[in-house]
Amino acid sequence: MSFLFGRSTNGSSTQKYKSSQFGPRTAGIHNKSHMSTQSHSGASGLLNRTTGFNSHDTSSSLTEEDDFEIITMEDALPDVETTDQEVPFGRKFGKKYFGFGEKVRNLNHGSFGAIPNAVLDARVRHMKDIQLFPDPFFKTGIFNQIAPIRKQVAELVDADPDNLVFVTNATTAVNTILRSYPFKKGDTFIICNTIYGSCRNTIQFLQDRVGVKVVELTFTYPMNHAEILDLFTSAIDSYENVRMAFFDTVSSMPAATIPWEELCHICRDRGVLSMVDGAHAIGLIPLSLRTARPDFFTSNLHKWLFTPNSVALLYVDRSQHHYVHSLPVSAVYLDDNTTLSGDKEQSRLADTFLYTGTIDYSAILTIPDSIKFRNEVCGGEERIRQYCTDLATRGGALVAKEFGTEILSGKEDNLITSMVTVALPYNPADSPSLQGEINGKYIEYIIREWNTFVPISYYKGQWWSRWSAQVYVDIDDFKYGIRAVLNTLEYLKSLGYK
Ligand SMILES: Cc1ncc(COP(=O)(O)O)c(C=O)c1O
Repeated sequence: MSFLFGRSTNGSSTQKYKSSQFGPRTAGIHNKSHMSTQSHSGASGLLNRTTGFNSHDTSSSLTEEDDFEIITMEDALPDVETTDQEVPFGRKFGKKYFGFGEKVRNLNHGSFGAIPNAVLDARVRHMKDIQLFPDPFFKTGIFNQIAPIRKQVAELVDADPDNLVFVTNATTAVNTILRSYPFKKGDTFIICNTIYGSCRNTIQFLQDRVGVKVVELTFTYPMNHAEILDLFTSAIDSYENVRMAFFDTVSSMPAATIPWEELCHICRDRGVLSMVDGAHAIGLIPLSLRTARPDFFTSNLHKWLFTPNSVALLYVDRSQHHYVHSLPVSAVYLDDNTTLSGDKEQSRLADTFLYTGTIDYSAILTIPDSIKFRNEVCGGEERIRQYCTDLATRGGALVAKEFGTEILSGKEDNLITSMVTVALPYNPADSPSLQGEINGKYIEYIIREWNTFVPISYYKGQWWSRWSAQVYVDIDDFKYGIRAVLNTLEYLKSLGYK
């Protein structure tokens, strides 16, 4: 899919379609009869560039209800009270410490993260240091410098550092485990339907290549954590040859907390391997791997810990070290049956994952700088978490109010972290290809016209939006995002997607 950035074809990036039926400011306004020539040419220009449809296609899909007017970006902020209580976090904090473009409002930290300027500078310093003389870094530096960083991260997640290595991202971590562990035909996996797409595909690969069986549980929200635990437990107890349960800490789309620690215990009690996808974990939720005792756990650091792309941790319980091999197999390879003596056995996991070919180690080297920023500038993990959860809760409530919809809820359990999921006031498209088409148009328009992005997805008959709070976000950004999303939905309707 191609993203288009920059100004619209009519030469103005501030012109928007606005439906008169949405939002406090638009109520009761105005002459609804038109779509101005200028705005129309903007829309058809966009269509010509991005979809190949022509302007005739566009206008013929409009009906009486699709009345639009031009508004400016300034008009777009809704009439909702602003408070000062987020200071020092919020937009000013973002302007001071982060490098977003002047007009950008980042409401999608959950996808790719974002790093403070100080962390980016630190990364560049590490890159330059390596360039001073690459040989000593690759021959000895990686050993001396990375071991203490593993220790530091192990403290953050309360784990034995020997059980923890760095890989480039959560997708790689999941692939590493699933594709190196000696699964065999008939082994059964228990997964759920909110599993991340690439992880589902990796399990599909095992189905195709090895012949493992997959039981996919359906999460129907609102549901509470006890129901999730029951679903997993009864599947584990009722299917034969259950070898692994795969679950998230916090699911992606829709974003929701999962009772992953209890699930780890359920698996351990029943002799089933647990693979925890904590892509959204470190920097987002409190973690104690010593208490949860998963067999396998991954967390991206580049999402919520302010570490640059690309780095994730991969945790492997000591009992499984022999069965896990790095991807790619590295300069150190030990087969499943080889046991070393003493310290060498102790560090076998770290040794096999240290040099998986020549990679850019600067993201790993920058981890301490990210942690320093979080402690010294942000005031520590707890303070960040409190701000973000509170903002996501208030922001999500505001979104739901303005949309006239509901937050994805969990009965008595709170599903909100720094991410909150809210139903869209929009419901076309039950075919996957149409969903993809709508999503593509949505992405292009909201990024180009609004300099923001709120991901949307279709789940169980409903379109949902996912909103990320962060220390550089405040309630005004949510208000801005509300207008951006509503306007983009109007645009979609103008294309005939309704
Ligand atoms: C739940 C979940 N798992 C895995 C991933 C993959 O992360 P990465 O792209 O860093 O490998 C994501 C990314 O958003 C995710 O949300």
